[in-house]
Amino acid sequence: MKLLRTKQEVHRHLGISRINNTTIGFVPTMGALHDGHLDLVKKAKENSDVIIVSIFVNPTQFNNQKDFENYPKTLNKDLDLLDKTGVDFVFVPSNQEIYPSIPSLIIDFGAIDKVLEGAFRPGHFNGVGIVVSKLLNIVKPHKTFFGQKDLQQVAIIKRLVEDLSFDTEIVIIPTVREADGLAMSSRNLRLDDEQRKIAPIIYEALTFAKDELLAGNNWFGTRGKVEQMFKEEPRFRLEYFELISSDRFELLESLKGTSNIAICTAAYLGEIRLIDNISIFD
Ligand code: PAJ
Repeated sequence: MKLLRTKQEVHRHLGISRINNTTIGFVPTMGALHDGHLDLVKKAKENSDVIIVSIFVNPTQFNNQKDFENYPKTLNKDLDLLDKTGVDFVFVPSNQEIYPSIPSLIIDFGAIDKVLEGAFRPGHFNGVGIVVSKLLNIVKPHKTFFGQKDLQQVAIIKRLVEDLSFDTEIVIIPTVREADGLAMSSRNLRLDDEQRKIAPIIYEALTFAKDELLAGNNWFGTRGKVEQMFKEEPRFRLEYFELISSDRFELLESLKGTSNIAICTAAYLGEIRLIDNISIFD
Protein backbone atom coordinates (compact mmCIF):
# COMPACT_ATOMS: atom_id res chain seq x y z
CA MET A 1 0.00 0.00 0.00
CA LYS A 2 1.37 3.39 -0.97
CA LEU A 3 0.76 6.61 0.93
CA LEU A 4 0.19 9.63 -1.32
CA ARG A 5 0.28 13.17 0.05
CA THR A 6 0.01 15.43 -2.99
CA LYS A 7 -2.13 15.80 -6.12
CA GLN A 8 0.99 15.26 -8.24
CA GLU A 9 1.67 11.92 -6.54
CA VAL A 10 -1.92 10.83 -7.21
CA HIS A 11 -1.63 11.83 -10.86
CA ARG A 12 1.70 10.04 -11.22
CA HIS A 13 0.55 6.75 -9.70
CA LEU A 14 -3.03 6.61 -10.95
CA GLY A 15 -2.17 7.95 -14.38
CA ILE A 16 -0.32 4.66 -14.97
CA SER A 17 -3.35 2.66 -13.81
CA ARG A 18 -5.54 4.59 -16.20
CA ILE A 19 -3.22 3.99 -19.16
CA ASN A 20 -3.19 0.26 -18.33
CA ASN A 21 -6.98 0.30 -18.75
CA THR A 22 -7.71 -0.76 -15.21
CA THR A 23 -10.77 0.31 -13.22
CA ILE A 24 -10.02 2.73 -10.40
CA GLY A 25 -12.30 2.41 -7.35
CA PHE A 26 -12.33 5.33 -4.88
CA VAL A 27 -13.58 5.51 -1.27
CA PRO A 28 -13.50 9.04 0.18
CA THR A 29 -13.43 9.17 4.01
CA MET A 30 -12.59 11.41 6.91
CA GLY A 31 -10.69 8.63 8.71
CA ALA A 32 -11.32 7.16 12.19
CA LEU A 33 -12.16 4.09 10.16
CA HIS A 34 -14.58 1.39 11.29
CA ASP A 35 -16.15 -1.69 9.70
CA GLY A 36 -18.63 0.49 7.78
CA HIS A 37 -15.77 2.20 5.95
CA LEU A 38 -14.00 -1.13 5.46
CA ASP A 39 -17.14 -2.62 3.92
CA LEU A 40 -17.06 0.18 1.34
CA VAL A 41 -13.43 -0.71 0.65
CA LYS A 42 -14.29 -4.42 0.28
CA LYS A 43 -17.12 -3.60 -2.17
CA ALA A 44 -14.73 -1.34 -4.05
CA LYS A 45 -12.24 -4.21 -4.30
CA GLU A 46 -14.91 -6.55 -5.69
CA ASN A 47 -15.82 -3.97 -8.33
CA SER A 48 -12.52 -2.43 -9.41
CA ASP A 49 -8.87 -3.28 -10.09
CA VAL A 50 -7.08 -0.48 -8.23
CA ILE A 51 -8.36 0.87 -4.91
CA ILE A 52 -7.65 4.31 -3.53
CA VAL A 53 -9.00 5.59 -0.21
CA SER A 54 -8.73 9.22 0.85
CA ILE A 55 -8.51 10.36 4.46
CA PHE A 56 -9.17 14.06 4.89
CA VAL A 57 -11.11 15.69 7.72
CA ASN A 58 -12.68 18.38 5.61
CA PRO A 59 -12.97 21.64 7.59
CA THR A 60 -15.47 23.27 5.21
CA GLN A 61 -18.22 20.73 5.94
CA PHE A 62 -18.20 21.31 9.70
CA ASN A 63 -20.62 24.05 10.66
CA ASN A 64 -19.47 23.65 14.26
CA GLN A 65 -15.80 24.38 14.99
CA LYS A 66 -15.84 22.28 18.18
CA ASP A 67 -17.16 19.25 16.27
CA PHE A 68 -14.30 19.70 13.78
CA GLU A 69 -11.68 19.95 16.52
CA ASN A 70 -13.11 16.92 18.37
CA TYR A 71 -13.43 14.75 15.26
CA PRO A 72 -11.50 11.54 16.08
CA LYS A 73 -8.12 11.16 14.38
CA THR A 74 -6.57 7.68 14.31
CA LEU A 75 -4.31 7.82 11.24
CA ASN A 76 -1.82 5.08 12.14
CA LYS A 77 -4.59 2.63 13.00
CA ASP A 78 -6.47 3.61 9.82
CA LEU A 79 -3.42 2.95 7.63
CA ASP A 80 -2.93 -0.41 9.29
CA LEU A 81 -6.56 -1.42 8.67
CA LEU A 82 -6.43 -0.29 5.04
CA ASP A 83 -3.18 -2.15 4.45
CA LYS A 84 -4.74 -5.34 5.84
CA THR A 85 -7.85 -4.87 3.69
CA GLY A 86 -5.70 -4.74 0.57
CA VAL A 87 -5.91 -1.12 -0.52
CA ASP A 88 -3.42 0.01 -3.18
CA PHE A 89 -3.22 3.74 -2.41
CA VAL A 90 -4.19 6.02 0.46
CA PHE A 91 -4.41 9.73 -0.27
CA VAL A 92 -3.81 11.77 2.89
CA PRO A 93 -3.56 15.39 1.73
CA SER A 94 -2.78 18.36 3.95
CA ASN A 95 -5.30 21.15 4.32
CA GLN A 96 -3.03 23.34 2.16
CA GLU A 97 -3.02 20.69 -0.59
CA ILE A 98 -6.84 20.69 -0.82
CA TYR A 99 -7.41 24.35 0.03
CA PRO A 100 -4.48 26.45 -1.26
CA SER A 101 -7.01 29.28 -0.97
CA ILE A 102 -10.50 29.56 0.49
CA PRO A 103 -12.95 28.53 -2.26
CA SER A 104 -15.10 31.36 -3.56
CA LEU A 105 -17.50 28.91 -5.21
CA ILE A 106 -20.69 28.21 -3.29
CA ILE A 107 -22.81 25.26 -4.36
CA ASP A 108 -26.54 25.70 -3.93
CA PHE A 109 -28.23 22.30 -4.00
CA GLY A 110 -31.71 23.85 -3.91
CA ALA A 111 -34.51 22.03 -2.10
CA ILE A 112 -32.44 18.96 -1.03
CA ASP A 113 -30.26 21.25 1.08
CA LYS A 114 -33.14 23.02 2.82
CA VAL A 115 -34.26 20.14 5.07
CA LEU A 116 -32.81 17.81 7.72
CA GLU A 117 -28.98 17.88 7.64
CA GLY A 118 -29.03 20.88 5.29
CA ALA A 119 -31.33 22.82 7.62
CA PHE A 120 -29.64 21.87 10.89
CA ARG A 121 -26.07 22.11 9.58
CA PRO A 122 -26.07 25.21 7.34
CA GLY A 123 -23.19 25.13 4.85
CA HIS A 124 -22.47 21.44 5.48
CA PHE A 125 -23.44 20.20 2.02
CA ASN A 126 -21.69 23.09 0.32
CA GLY A 127 -18.50 21.87 2.05
CA VAL A 128 -19.21 18.25 1.08
CA GLY A 129 -19.91 19.28 -2.53
CA ILE A 130 -16.69 21.31 -2.77
CA VAL A 131 -14.41 18.65 -1.29
CA VAL A 132 -15.96 15.74 -3.21
CA SER A 133 -15.62 17.75 -6.46
CA LYS A 134 -11.97 18.42 -5.68
CA LEU A 135 -11.30 14.78 -4.79
CA LEU A 136 -13.05 13.50 -7.94
CA ASN A 137 -11.00 15.91 -10.06
CA ILE A 138 -7.77 14.77 -8.41
CA VAL A 139 -8.42 11.00 -8.36
CA LYS A 140 -10.57 10.68 -11.52
CA PRO A 141 -12.00 7.31 -10.40
CA HIS A 142 -14.19 5.11 -12.57
CA LYS A 143 -16.30 4.18 -9.55
CA THR A 144 -16.81 6.03 -6.26
CA PHE A 145 -18.29 4.35 -3.19
CA PHE A 146 -20.55 5.97 -0.59
CA GLY A 147 -22.55 4.65 2.36
CA GLN A 148 -26.31 4.72 2.71
CA LYS A 149 -25.67 5.74 6.33
CA ASP A 150 -25.46 9.32 5.03
CA LEU A 151 -28.55 9.17 2.85
CA GLN A 152 -28.89 12.89 2.23
CA GLN A 153 -25.20 13.07 1.31
CA VAL A 154 -25.91 10.34 -1.27
CA ALA A 155 -28.73 12.43 -2.78
CA ILE A 156 -26.48 15.51 -2.83
CA ILE A 157 -23.59 13.66 -4.48
CA LYS A 158 -25.80 12.08 -7.13
CA ARG A 159 -27.00 15.62 -8.01
CA LEU A 160 -23.44 16.94 -8.02
CA VAL A 161 -22.20 14.20 -10.34
CA GLU A 162 -25.13 14.62 -12.70
CA ASP A 163 -25.13 18.43 -12.71
CA LEU A 164 -21.37 18.75 -13.24
CA SER A 165 -21.00 15.64 -15.48
CA PHE A 166 -18.34 13.97 -13.36
CA ASP A 167 -17.21 10.87 -15.21
CA THR A 168 -17.61 8.42 -12.33
CA GLU A 169 -20.18 5.81 -11.35
CA ILE A 170 -21.61 6.30 -7.85
CA VAL A 171 -22.02 3.01 -5.96
CA ILE A 172 -24.07 2.98 -2.73
CA ILE A 173 -23.40 0.47 0.07
CA PRO A 174 -25.93 -0.45 2.81
CA THR A 175 -25.35 0.75 6.38
CA VAL A 176 -23.14 -1.49 8.53
CA ARG A 177 -24.37 -1.80 12.14
CA GLU A 178 -23.10 -2.99 15.49
CA ALA A 179 -24.70 -6.19 16.84
CA ASP A 180 -27.22 -4.10 18.82
CA GLY A 181 -28.29 -2.11 15.74
CA LEU A 182 -26.31 1.09 16.28
CA ALA A 183 -25.07 2.37 12.93
CA MET A 184 -21.29 2.38 12.86
CA SER A 185 -19.94 5.91 12.93
CA SER A 186 -16.62 7.56 13.70
CA ARG A 187 -18.50 9.67 16.26
CA ASN A 188 -19.43 6.52 18.25
CA LEU A 189 -15.83 6.61 19.54
CA ARG A 190 -16.78 9.69 21.53
CA LEU A 191 -19.70 8.05 23.38
CA ASP A 192 -19.11 7.20 27.04
CA ASP A 193 -20.26 3.80 28.38
CA GLU A 194 -23.66 5.07 29.49
CA GLN A 195 -24.31 6.84 26.20
CA ARG A 196 -23.15 3.83 24.22
CA LYS A 197 -25.60 1.62 26.13
CA ILE A 198 -28.64 3.68 25.14
CA ALA A 199 -27.48 4.71 21.65
CA PRO A 200 -29.27 1.75 19.93
CA ILE A 201 -32.60 3.45 20.77
CA ILE A 202 -32.07 5.41 17.54
CA TYR A 203 -32.27 2.27 15.39
CA GLU A 204 -35.05 0.80 17.57
CA ALA A 205 -37.08 3.96 16.91
CA LEU A 206 -36.47 3.69 13.16
CA THR A 207 -37.48 0.01 12.94
CA PHE A 208 -40.48 0.64 15.20
CA ALA A 209 -41.68 3.52 12.99
CA LYS A 210 -41.11 1.50 9.81
CA ASP A 211 -43.18 -1.42 11.20
CA GLU A 212 -45.94 0.96 12.32
CA LEU A 213 -46.15 2.53 8.86
CA LEU A 214 -46.13 -0.83 7.08
CA ALA A 215 -48.93 -1.98 9.41
CA GLY A 216 -51.02 0.92 8.06
CA ASN A 217 -50.61 3.41 10.89
CA ASN A 218 -50.37 7.09 10.01
CA TRP A 219 -47.13 9.02 10.04
CA PHE A 220 -47.92 11.74 12.56
CA GLY A 221 -49.26 9.27 15.13
CA THR A 222 -46.16 7.13 14.63
CA ARG A 223 -43.80 10.07 15.00
CA GLY A 224 -45.64 11.13 18.16
CA LYS A 225 -44.97 7.71 19.70
CA VAL A 226 -41.29 7.94 18.75
CA GLU A 227 -40.97 11.42 20.25
CA GLN A 228 -42.45 9.98 23.45
CA MET A 229 -39.85 7.14 23.39
CA PHE A 230 -37.06 9.72 23.26
CA LYS A 231 -38.63 11.88 25.99
CA GLU A 232 -38.49 8.88 28.32
CA GLU A 233 -34.70 8.84 27.94
CA PRO A 234 -33.69 12.39 28.95
CA ARG A 235 -30.05 11.91 27.94
CA PHE A 236 -31.26 12.02 24.32
CA ARG A 237 -32.23 15.16 22.48
CA LEU A 238 -34.09 14.30 19.30
CA GLU A 239 -33.36 16.84 16.59
CA TYR A 240 -35.50 15.52 13.76
CA PHE A 241 -37.39 12.37 12.77
CA GLU A 242 -38.77 12.69 9.26
CA LEU A 243 -40.33 10.66 6.48
CA ILE A 244 -38.76 11.62 3.15
CA SER A 245 -38.43 10.63 -0.50
CA SER A 246 -34.88 9.31 -0.65
CA ASP A 247 -34.02 10.72 -4.05
CA ARG A 248 -35.38 14.29 -3.78
CA PHE A 249 -35.53 14.61 0.00
CA GLU A 250 -39.07 15.94 0.01
CA LEU A 251 -40.83 15.67 3.38
CA LEU A 252 -43.70 13.16 3.17
CA GLU A 253 -46.78 12.62 5.30
CA SER A 254 -47.62 9.08 4.13
CA LEU A 255 -46.29 6.17 2.07
CA LYS A 256 -48.44 7.13 -0.92
CA GLY A 257 -47.05 8.19 -4.28
CA THR A 258 -43.46 6.92 -4.36
CA SER A 259 -41.60 3.72 -3.53
CA ASN A 260 -38.29 5.41 -2.67
CA ILE A 261 -39.05 6.30 0.93
CA ALA A 262 -36.94 6.44 4.07
CA ILE A 263 -37.14 7.68 7.62
CA CYS A 264 -34.18 9.87 8.63
CA THR A 265 -33.25 10.98 12.10
CA ALA A 266 -30.65 12.95 14.04
CA ALA A 267 -30.31 12.90 17.81
CA TYR A 268 -27.86 14.24 20.36
CA LEU A 269 -26.39 12.21 23.19
CA GLY A 270 -24.66 14.89 25.23
CA GLU A 271 -22.62 16.84 22.68
CA ILE A 272 -22.43 13.97 20.22
CA ARG A 273 -24.73 14.13 17.26
CA LEU A 274 -25.70 10.84 15.65
CA ILE A 275 -27.66 10.32 12.42
CA ASP A 276 -29.30 7.23 10.97
CA ASN A 277 -31.99 6.24 8.49
CA ILE A 278 -34.01 3.27 7.33
CA SER A 279 -35.57 2.53 3.94
CA ILE A 280 -39.22 1.55 4.05
CA PHE A 281 -39.49 -0.83 1.10
CA ASP A 282 -36.46 -3.09 1.25
P1 PAJ B 1 -17.06 9.68 6.58
O1 PAJ B 1 -18.06 10.07 7.61
O2 PAJ B 1 -15.69 9.27 7.00
O3 PAJ B 1 -17.68 8.52 5.73
C1 PAJ B 1 -17.01 8.00 4.61
C2 PAJ B 1 -17.96 7.08 3.89
O4 PAJ B 1 -18.29 5.97 4.73
C3 PAJ B 1 -19.30 7.78 3.54
O5 PAJ B 1 -19.70 7.41 2.24
C4 PAJ B 1 -20.23 7.24 4.60
O6 PAJ B 1 -21.59 7.24 4.20
C5 PAJ B 1 -19.69 5.82 4.77
N1 PAJ B 1 -20.12 5.24 6.04
C6 PAJ B 1 -20.02 5.79 7.28
N2 PAJ B 1 -20.56 4.98 8.21
C7 PAJ B 1 -21.03 3.89 7.55
C8 PAJ B 1 -21.70 2.68 7.94
N3 PAJ B 1 -22.02 2.44 9.22
N4 PAJ B 1 -22.03 1.79 6.98
C9 PAJ B 1 -21.72 2.03 5.67
N5 PAJ B 1 -21.08 3.13 5.24
C10 PAJ B 1 -20.74 4.06 6.16
O7 PAJ B 1 -18.96 10.98 4.63
C11 PAJ B 1 -17.87 11.49 4.80
O8 PAJ B 1 -16.85 10.90 5.54
C12 PAJ B 1 -17.48 12.83 4.19
O9 PAJ B 1 -18.64 13.62 4.10
C13 PAJ B 1 -16.81 12.69 2.79
C14 PAJ B 1 -17.76 12.06 1.76
C15 PAJ B 1 -15.52 11.88 2.90
C16 PAJ B 1 -16.45 14.11 2.28
O10 PAJ B 1 -15.61 14.76 3.18
